Amino acid sequence: MINLIWAMDENWLIGQDNQLPWHIPADLQYFKQHTHNKNVIMGELTYQSLKAYYKTKPLPFNHIFVANLDQKAYDDATWIPDVVQFLKETKDDLYVIGGKTIYQLSLPYANRLYITYILNRYKGNVYFPTFDLSQFEVIDKRLEPGLIFTVYERRKSL
Ligand SMILES: NC(=O)c1ccc[n+]([C@@H]2O[C@H](COP(=O)([O-])OP(=O)(O)OC[C@H]3O[C@@H](n4cnc5c(N)ncnc54)[C@H](OP(=O)(O)O)[C@@H]3O)[C@@H](O)[C@H]2O)c1
Repeated sequence: MINLIWAMDENWLIGQDNQLPWHIPADLQYFKQHTHNKNVIMGELTYQSLKAYYKTKPLPFNHIFVANLDQKAYDDATWIPDVVQFLKETKDDLYVIGGKTIYQLSLPYANRLYITYILNRYKGNVYFPTFDLSQFEVIDKRLEPGLIFTVYERRKSL
């Protein structure tokens, strides 16, 4: 099962200079709850951003995969040179945790989407790629002040 998880504002903004454009504790908590001890894949830039956030603490995931076109050795992660091939072959329950490039490449393989809608507009420079959300149906929705937590599942093809 391939899960994508992200937060975006009303303009589908997701990033600002390789960081989140906002600091919203409820969303961070939601992300941590859903990805704690899970197998995750992320792009090199998101990996660098998370390492800066956690400083010397270990990243709180199970197996960490990092997509990077350039070969790189990671202390705590496995290098993935071709994210599409990896997604086609993986049998694991996997969470795709960003960023834009890796979300875009993963969307065709996604079974489930965890989207946090942030009901505001921020400044930034990275937007979630446009895609056809009608291929997915909402299976869960929770409102909090300023936020909507949603879970979508890919519609079964007829
Ligand atoms: N709001 C959220 O929920 C959220 C979550 C995560 C991240 N973000 C934001 O997203 C932004 C980062 O996104 P990004 O797109 O710039 O970077 P990214 O997705 O984190 O990393 C991209 C990396 O993937 C590599 N790559 C490209 N195609 C590949 C392929 N086919 N197979 C393997 N690796 C491949 C790239 O190599 P090359 O450089 O050689 O092309 C690059 O090293 C940041 O601003 C971050 O804060 C937001």
